[in-house]
Amino acid sequence: MYRTNTCNDLTSKNIGDQVILSGWVHRRRDHGGLIFIDLRDRYGLTQIVFDPKINKAAWEIAETIRPEYVIKITGNVRSRGKDAYNPNLHTGEIEIAVTEISILNKSKTPPFEIEKEKNVNEDLRLKYRYLDLRKERMQNNIIMRHKIIKFIRDFLSERDFIEIETPILIKGTPEGAREFVVPSRHYNGKFYVLPQSPQQLKQLSMVAGFDKYFQIARCFRDEDQRGDRQPEFTQMDMELSFATQEEIMELNETMLTTLIKKLYPHKTLQPVTRLTWQESMDKYGVDNPDLRFGLEFTDLTPDFIGSEFKVFANAANNNGIIRAINIENGGSFTRKTIDDLTETAKIYGAKGLAYLIWPKGQDIKSPLLKFLSETELATIKNKTGFKEGDIVFFGAGEFRSVCESLGAVRKKLGDLLNLKDKNTLALCWVYDFPLYERSKETGELTCSHHPFTSPKDLDILDSDPEKALGAQYDFVLNGNELGGGTLRIHDPEIQSKIFKILGIPEAESKRRFGHILEAFSYGAPPHGGIAWGIDRLCMLLQDEPNIREVIAYPKDQKAKDLMLGAPDIVNDSELNELGIQIISE
Ligand code: AMO
Ligand code: AMP
Repeated sequence: MYRTNTCNDLTSKNIGDQVILSGWVHRRRDHGGLIFIDLRDRYGLTQIVFDPKINKAAWEIAETIRPEYVIKITGNVRSRGKDAYNPNLHTGEIEIAVTEISILNKSKTPPFEIEKEKNVNEDLRLKYRYLDLRKERMQNNIIMRHKIIKFIRDFLSERDFIEIETPILIKGTPEGAREFVVPSRHYNGKFYVLPQSPQQLKQLSMVAGFDKYFQIARCFRDEDQRGDRQPEFTQMDMELSFATQEEIMELNETMLTTLIKKLYPHKTLQPVTRLTWQESMDKYGVDNPDLRFGLEFTDLTPDFIGSEFKVFANAANNNGIIRAINIENGGSFTRKTIDDLTETAKIYGAKGLAYLIWPKGQDIKSPLLKFLSETELATIKNKTGFKEGDIVFFGAGEFRSVCESLGAVRKKLGDLLNLKDKNTLALCWVYDFPLYERSKETGELTCSHHPFTSPKDLDILDSDPEKALGAQYDFVLNGNELGGGTLRIHDPEIQSKIFKILGIPEAESKRRFGHILEAFSYGAPPHGGIAWGIDRLCMLLQDEPNIREVIAYPKDQKAKDLMLGAPDIVNDSELNELGIQIISE
C-alpha cells in the first residue's frame, strides 16, 4: 500500500493514528538532530518528522533526501504543540513521527524551485512544464479549469444538450484565420485542414435534427500569437435549433453567471449589460468594452462644424467624428502622463491627442485654447462635465480611427487610474454588428464574424452591404471578447447570395461549400449558436495575465512546443510517402 491518506487529510482528529503517506519532498529542514520535511501531493502538505531516537536508520535516510524526491513513509500522527500550529495549512495542527521510510524515486536538482513562486524565465518553465505544473498556482489553475468545464458539461446536459464530437481532419472553414493543413498519404497533393472551430459541423448537426448541441471543442488557427491567443485552443461551442437570439443570450448569461457564483463566490459580479455595436463604439470606442469603469465618450461632432479649430472642423465637416473623455481630478496629470497617453493614441493612427487641462486653483491650459470660441468652450463644459480639477481629451477624425485611438486611451486610463478591480467581473453583450468590414489591407469586403451569419435586413444587402447588420452577439468580460455567436442563415439561396457578395465565384463556392448548401436544401431548421473561449474564461477568472497560464501544455509565443520540441522535421521517407518536397529558402 502506498498511502492511507493524502497529504491534505490529517487533522488533530487523527492524533494517535498510524498512517502511510506518499509524495514529493517539498521542503526539508534540519533542526539539531530532528529533520522536518513538508511532504507534498496535489492535495496539500503534511509535515513529517524524523527523530533518530525513534528510528535511527530512517533518520539516516532522511539526511540524504533532497527536494522533489518521491518517498513513502509510515508513522504516527501527533500534535505539533500549540506554538507550532500553522493556521495556513489544513494539516497545520499535526505532524507525523516517521517510523519507516522508503525512497520511491530520486530527483535531480530541478532547474527552478517548485517550492517558491518566483519569476522564472518562461522558456524554462515551458521546457520543463511537468515541473512547472507541480507548483501550487499552476495546479490550482488546471484544477479550476477542470471544474469550469465540468460545470458547463453538467449545466448543458441537464438542459437536454448533447455533446457531439466533430472531426479534427476536415475541409477548410472560412472564418478569417489562416488554417493548419495536414498532408494526405493516400491522396498526394491533397490536404486535410484542421478546424478553426466546429462551425459547419455544428450547423450540419442541426440539419441532422440534434436540436441542442454542445462540445468542449479543440480549435486550430495559424495566426500570430498574443497573450490571449494560442494556435490551438478550446471552445465551449454550442448550437440550437428553433431558438431566438434572446433565448440564446439568456441561456448563456445564466450559464456564466451561475458558474461564477458557484465557483468564484468571492468575486463581485456586476449586472450584465447589453449594448448595440454602435452604442459600444460611440461610448467606449471598442466592441469589447471594459465596464468595470465609466469614462464614457461624449460626442461633440455637431458642435464643431465650421469651427476655427481646423482639426475639429475638418473632422466635423468631412463625415468624421469628434469625441471627448473627461477625467475627473485629471487636472493633476503630469506632462509625462499626457505624453504617454498621446503616444497611445498615435499608435492607433491619431495625429495627436488634443486636451484641455484645468488644474485646481489655476486657469485652463491648453495649446488649443486660443482656437476655441466661448460658446465652444461652454459646450465642452456642458456636455462632458469638464470643470476645475479635470482634464478632457479629444479625438477628431475618421470614425474607426477615433474609436480605436480614444478606445486605447480609455483602456490605458483604466490602468493608470487603477479602475480595473481584479475582483470585479463586468459582463456585457455587444450585438447588432455590421455584417461586413472593409479590409484595411486589400479594401475587400470581409465578414465581421463568418459567412454563415444571418443578415438582419435583406433589402439593404443589395443596396448598401456595408450598412447591413448581422444577427451577431459577442459576450464580453472585463474588456475581453469571451465569446461570439450569431443566428445562421438556413436558406441555401441567401447563403449563396452572401458568398456572391463576398466575391466568391459560384464554382468556387460550390467546391468549398457545396456540402452545406446542399444540406440546407433538405429542410434545415432555423438555428444559431455561440462559442466561448475556455482558455480566456479561465485566464480571467483565475486572474492570470495570459492564457498560457491556464493551459497545461501550451505553445510559446512563437507557436513552439518547447517541451516536446515541436514543430520538428520528419524523415525523407515520410515526406516521400506524402509526396512532399522541402524547398529550402
Ligand atoms: P470566434 O472566432 O469568435 O467564433 O471564437 C469564439 C471564441 O474563441 C476564443 N478564441 C481564441 N482563444 C484562444 N486562442 C485563439 N487563437 C482564439 N481565437 C478565438 C475567443 C472567441 O470569442 N464558430 C464561431 C462561434 C459561433 O459563431 O458559434 C467562432 O469560432 O474567446
Ligand atoms: P496641431 O494643430 O496639429 O498642432 O494640433 C493641435 C492639437 O490637437 C495638439 O494637441 C494635437 O495633439 C491635437 N490633435 C491633432 N490631431 C488630432 C486628432 N485627429 N484628434 C485629436 N487631437 C488631435
